[in-house]
Amino acid sequence: MSVATNVPRLLLVDPRVLADPFTVYGQAREEAPLVRLLAPGIRPIWGFTRLADCKAMLADRRFAVTEESEIRPDIPDVAQPYLAAMHVDGERHHRLRSIWAPAFTAARSVAFRPRVEAIVDSLIDDLEAAAADGPVDLLADFTEPFNADVVVEFLGFPVSDRQPWREHAHAMSSGVSDDYARAIDAVLQATKDAIAQHREHPADDPISMLIRDQADDPQRLSDLEMEALIWVTVAASSPVKHFLANAIVALLTNVDQLELLLAGDRLAPNAVEELIRWSGLNVIGNPRYATENVDVHGVVIQAGDAVVAVHASANRDPRAFDHADRLDVTRPLKPMGHLGFGYGPHVCTGNWLAREMSDVALVRLFQRLPRLALAVDPAELRRVRDPGTWRLESLPVTLH
Ligand code: HEM
Repeated sequence: MSVATNVPRLLLVDPRVLADPFTVYGQAREEAPLVRLLAPGIRPIWGFTRLADCKAMLADRRFAVTEESEIRPDIPDVAQPYLAAMHVDGERHHRLRSIWAPAFTAARSVAFRPRVEAIVDSLIDDLEAAAADGPVDLLADFTEPFNADVVVEFLGFPVSDRQPWREHAHAMSSGVSDDYARAIDAVLQATKDAIAQHREHPADDPISMLIRDQADDPQRLSDLEMEALIWVTVAASSPVKHFLANAIVALLTNVDQLELLLAGDRLAPNAVEELIRWSGLNVIGNPRYATENVDVHGVVIQAGDAVVAVHASANRDPRAFDHADRLDVTRPLKPMGHLGFGYGPHVCTGNWLAREMSDVALVRLFQRLPRLALAVDPAELRRVRDPGTWRLESLPVTLH
């Protein structure tokens, strides 16, 4: 069957889409459950616009993650075998996931909260010192180092590795291929060194858990897979810094919501979920590829076609959320009631840690800095021109 004529077509880099993906994809969602996403130099991609369809697609084995799912021109050759080992599906993914996910449970994430608090407090001390000279950039000076410091320490790297890992994490998520290429040898070496050190001195951390797993059954996990799980997880955790920057802007521009949040030493129970739903990072999710022809609402997606969940429209789908365009931190939302952490077998491994991190960072920031304010008009905040993610270039604020 040919592409149905009622499927809207959108250019991924259309300035209207880049400027306000929520409105443009929202209009497409109300027109049709599928859109055709076009961009020069790549094959058209099917976009699922509605929440229930996105969840069904992400849970459907006929739409698979493959090596192609990591379409990034900035990735150097030496990193490719590691990413190929991680971008797998089916039995292989299940094996890796069953080895790695137990290190990221809710209980382990909550137990790490005191360390997250200490890291936030020390970064806020640094911010206060820097703010004596004028506005500070909360992305470069707070959310980015926070993201790297917490994840790297959680995994089991020594605190003395903090500074180099901040630089590695920045290089891997900058989207600049030269930065990635310059960092990758040091990333691989630091990972191998940490594994060697943990073999000598095992502890209760994710790196040691991998080593124990491999020792119990050497067939279950190769050395390359072990290294990939560790450093690719650092790279995969980079949504934290951008999500937090988005959340801070959302709260500074919706002060009634901010007041609702700050009643105690934790955020309102659903606040992080709602902030991820409303101002999350992904505009569209990582692609899957149809393994056979699949009929979706009368349209046949051909085997080999790329499909994505459009987070920007699904997370604001009025079929799933009342007053979906409104930020409401008291909204009764279930943990996976939105698409912010994905859905199905590839749902974010670090979602519990991310919740804990977000909760601590937002509470501490707004409680310790009650006069925090944007240093520019919200309309002047600059966003990266990226069709896949909704993220800021910088977040200039004043603290006092
Ligand atoms: C607010 C913060 C975060 C957001 C919004 C986020 C979002 C996501 C999403 C949407 C996916 C699904 C990708 C897909 O379907 O292909 C994902 C996967 C993943 N995330 Fe996160 N993430 C966050 C934080 C973290 C953290 C803190 C870690 C680890 C410390 C992490 C590690 C991973 C890994 C390893 C995967 C791959 C899972 C798999 O393929 O089985 N993420 N994340």
